[in-house]
Amino acid sequence: MIPHLLTDLLAGIAEQADPERTTPLEPVAPTGNAAHGDYQWNFAFRLAKARKQNPRAVAESLVGQLVHPLIQRAEVMGPGFINLTFDDEVLARLIGEQAATPRLGLPQVGAGKTVVIDYSSPNVAKRMHIGHMRSTHIGNALYRLHLAAGYRTIGDNHIGDWGTQFGKLIVAWRTWRDDAGYAADPIGELERLYVKFGEEVRPLNKDGPADPPDVAAGKQELVAAARAETLKLQKGDPDNMALWQQFMDVSMGEFNAVYARMGVRFDVTMGESAYRDLTDGVVERLKRDGIAEASEGAWIVRFEEPSLKNSPVIVQKRDGASNYTTTDLAAMQYRVEHWRPDRIIIVTDMRQQLVFNQLFSIARRTGVTAELVHAWFGMLVLPEGAMSTRAGNIIRLVDLFDEAVSRARAIVDARELAKPPDAPRLPDVERAVIAEAVGMGAIRYADLSQHPQTDVTFSWDKMLAFEGNTAPYLLYSYARCVTLLARAGETPDPGAIHLGHPLERELALSILRTPEAALAALTNSRPNLLADHCYDLSNRINRVYHDLPVLTGGDARASRLGLLDCARRALGTGLDWLGLTVIDRM
Ligand code: ARG
Repeated sequence: MIPHLLTDLLAGIAEQADPERTTPLEPVAPTGNAAHGDYQWNFAFRLAKARKQNPRAVAESLVGQLVHPLIQRAEVMGPGFINLTFDDEVLARLIGEQAATPRLGLPQVGAGKTVVIDYSSPNVAKRMHIGHMRSTHIGNALYRLHLAAGYRTIGDNHIGDWGTQFGKLIVAWRTWRDDAGYAADPIGELERLYVKFGEEVRPLNKDGPADPPDVAAGKQELVAAARAETLKLQKGDPDNMALWQQFMDVSMGEFNAVYARMGVRFDVTMGESAYRDLTDGVVERLKRDGIAEASEGAWIVRFEEPSLKNSPVIVQKRDGASNYTTTDLAAMQYRVEHWRPDRIIIVTDMRQQLVFNQLFSIARRTGVTAELVHAWFGMLVLPEGAMSTRAGNIIRLVDLFDEAVSRARAIVDARELAKPPDAPRLPDVERAVIAEAVGMGAIRYADLSQHPQTDVTFSWDKMLAFEGNTAPYLLYSYARCVTLLARAGETPDPGAIHLGHPLERELALSILRTPEAALAALTNSRPNLLADHCYDLSNRINRVYHDLPVLTGGDARASRLGLLDCARRALGTGLDWLGLTVIDRM
């Protein structure tokens, strides 16, 4: 990785200029503009600020020391930027080295370290819906990146499998169950029952007059019954436990089918129920250590931090029951004891920021030293009329996926139809494979290519377009390289790469930047930093493909084939880290 190659040199220069090391060392970063060289070093600004000197003068005093085989030219620009232009031959050699290294030579920053990534984590009782999607996409991309960077990576699906929804489901099951319906479609029947319970207890007219007394009483009774069944379950009642197990089996079967389709696999699935015997001990310890205090019959934790000062959290309710936070404290304790992680990442939507700020603060006080990250994300917005929803139903993930794939299939078919009459057509099975990769990839990429901490608005037309920062465009760029290399009919040789043309050079720099982008995505919990890079790489691939002759490139042919093969590899790896499936023909 380019910044790493220069670390020793820069550290030496900084050491000389700043023996007390008052100013933190800064790595080089891409300029993004060929007129400013390839990479830039902005250390002079920091040093000048610390010393109250002119940054330009400081830069001038440093630039002469930037002597390295990679650096062909170093010059001061503007108020104190140091711009570096790299040597073409060294760049070409680095690409060859990258091609020969597993995982593009991604620095193994996780070697010897363990990370737990808690993601997806739906609440059991109904089918997976679009509310579960972003956590699954983002969490899985972070999972893949950590794995590639050498971490021992534990993906944990912290499903909500111990909550009040089971009491409701048990009451609904005993009251309204349709046995034939259940036999035909178990998860469908459970979902119907859950929805029915909600409808039965909902006020007749939300904003209008109150329900008549007899109706209201009936609803109260249902709610009370559900609460009683939840309590019985949590106390281990055998009948309710058996029903719970049955509902869990049905739900997990459904979830696992969705995960398989998404290319997601967890190392452990430890839901809330897994910690049910640990929560009392957690509360006891908090009491013993003076972290929890009694308040109106309940036990709470107060915070010193200004942002949490007004938000104490309950860890044990008046009736002795634990809650979401207690369960998460137990999960934290379990993870620390069993896996000794260096980092724990929990991926949920933005609405849980307070909950995790509280949790992490308590965890610190109990002595947890692991780095704790709440990777939160914004909401997913579907444009009006994006899906034909059955009235009153939330959008199911399978339906969203099917819709994307069928739209992708229509596009693939239309493209086939538009080919000249005598051109060979892709066989039906292959079109189906392409449609699945493009449709699923389009949804995933539309999600991951946005800054996670913003709301994402889905548009079918935008995500399925073959132009712009979309999955079809990126997958097509990849497939185009594969097809071209197949037509060339020779084994591409990275050793033949020679950067004679500016477009080749830009592509080379982009290829080399891939590990940097991946590490930035990992460090900042922002897969979009890698997505942006994959888009840049695709643009540069297409420039070379369109503007320069490759197969008919004469002397440059072998070099361009080698370069495009390395680009294909970098793009394919980047897309794999994001969780997209590449295809060889489109
Ligand atoms: N089940 C929760 C929900 O659907 C998310 C759980 C996230 N992980 C955790 N350790 N609390 O909102």
